[in-house]
Amino acid sequence: MKEYDFVVIGSGIAGLSFALKAARHGSVAVITKRKGADTNTAWAQGGIACVTSDEDSFQLHVRDTLEAGAGLCDEAVVRTIVTEGPERICELAELGLQFDEREVSGHREFDLGKEGGHSKRRVLHVRDVTGREIEETLLRELARQSDVQLLENHMAVDLITAAKLGFAAEDRCLGVYVLDEKTGEVETIRADRIVLATGGCGKVYLYTTNPDIATGDGVAMAWRAGVEIANMEFIQFHPTCLFHPQAKSFLISEAVRGEGGILRNNRGEDFMKRYDPRGSLAPRDIVARAIDAEIKRSGAQCVFLDMTHKPAEFIRERFPHIYQTCLRFGIDMFKQAIPVVPAAHYQCGGIKTDINGATNLPGLYAIGEVACTGLHGANRLASNSLLEGLVVAHRAAAAVQTRFARKQKVPLPEWKSGNVQDVDELVVIYHNWDEIRRLMWDYVGIVRTDKRLQRASARLRNLQREIREFYWNFKVSVDLLELRNLAAVAALIVDSALCRKESRGLHYTLDYPEADDRHFKHDTLLSRG
Ligand code: SIN
Repeated sequence: MKEYDFVVIGSGIAGLSFALKAARHGSVAVITKRKGADTNTAWAQGGIACVTSDEDSFQLHVRDTLEAGAGLCDEAVVRTIVTEGPERICELAELGLQFDEREVSGHREFDLGKEGGHSKRRVLHVRDVTGREIEETLLRELARQSDVQLLENHMAVDLITAAKLGFAAEDRCLGVYVLDEKTGEVETIRADRIVLATGGCGKVYLYTTNPDIATGDGVAMAWRAGVEIANMEFIQFHPTCLFHPQAKSFLISEAVRGEGGILRNNRGEDFMKRYDPRGSLAPRDIVARAIDAEIKRSGAQCVFLDMTHKPAEFIRERFPHIYQTCLRFGIDMFKQAIPVVPAAHYQCGGIKTDINGATNLPGLYAIGEVACTGLHGANRLASNSLLEGLVVAHRAAAAVQTRFARKQKVPLPEWKSGNVQDVDELVVIYHNWDEIRRLMWDYVGIVRTDKRLQRASARLRNLQREIREFYWNFKVSVDLLELRNLAAVAALIVDSALCRKESRGLHYTLDYPEADDRHFKHDTLLSRG
């Protein structure tokens, strides 16, 4: 059995930032399913929203965040994250990250981007590959730390808690079972503090801007451990994912619209003006719903994002990654509009935590997209998530400095494998995986109804029964574990959506098209049992 002071599950901005700081206080293992850089963070294009300009203020950033959150943000949390942002940005700069700058009347200042819902330019970026640069910077720093072990190709299976071992009165997280993908063995790891930083669950939907790793593992594990889960109905659909048969999950950053990109329908009309006075740069929930309506009305497969009126040199310099990727698929942004569709992008709910990442299970922390701190409310303001990852990771690392005074070490049982056969019916796994993603897209998408949600709920219960059988009878594999997590998270999204009999932020239902402050201006909280 391995033992560490801190085990971090996930290697994106939140997990790595925490690991680097926790390493000053004890031994750290970072567990990650694939390679270190296979994270949602590395795919982030837009950047980090943070107040750095004289024309901006904390007040305005707080106001924009609260407005996007549609009444469900925790104002104190918003204020803390916004005001502590600049210090965390300085730390990234000290690690060598260089955000884009520009020359203004003889001096250099940040070249700030603009995205939907922001009243000011405030998005720090490195061209259109901000996440990749952050990920590389943090991994480079991690490699210098001797007290941190990065365990790649390791997947967390389940948390080990005192309650599961029969000590319900003093429940606490004691460790985690981890599948070593190379050996196929499940190891038992003990740690005083476990930090879930596993990112989101975009793969629960057929179309997503997320990488393949985004299978909701952290939320599913926390749920099984009896931890409180909040606001899972609020799934953010990004309005502009590249629509092309060979392009999988490629995001066209909102920054493109921030720099003047115009959404047009198949007749070439700038249709967003009909839906919102802010046009193509209205908040994401409004734009995604408008595109959905245009597509349904016209029968077209997509809409188009037009940048042809911008100078070619500007596009090439500001959006080199998007420009090159589109070109690879035969789309020349200089000459033609980019075909786009909305796709699942961000999980605004998650494991309920306080501002320091603490969950209601002692010893268990959650940071980044996997967590619900109260920053995003019912709809996340664009580019607020990398900021949240940095600030909450810092606070969590400060909060765990005091060692947990353990009276006596509870012995942790070894993992027991099912029938120790290999899964011979791989087709069942792939079929169930596809079925979940399609039913979530068709029944639990941008526009919902109770009838569709109930249909999804019934289907998911059947699938979960089948998956449970598989789980107990066969040797675990990454595919099976991901499928089990995906099904659990899909069911949480549906159950949460069924609880909310109103439309608010990202949750829009035809059955209750208005917000109902009297009955529903509160978080949706679910916990097992
Ligand atoms: C984007 O670049 O459009 C994504 C930014 C975000 O989701 O915060």
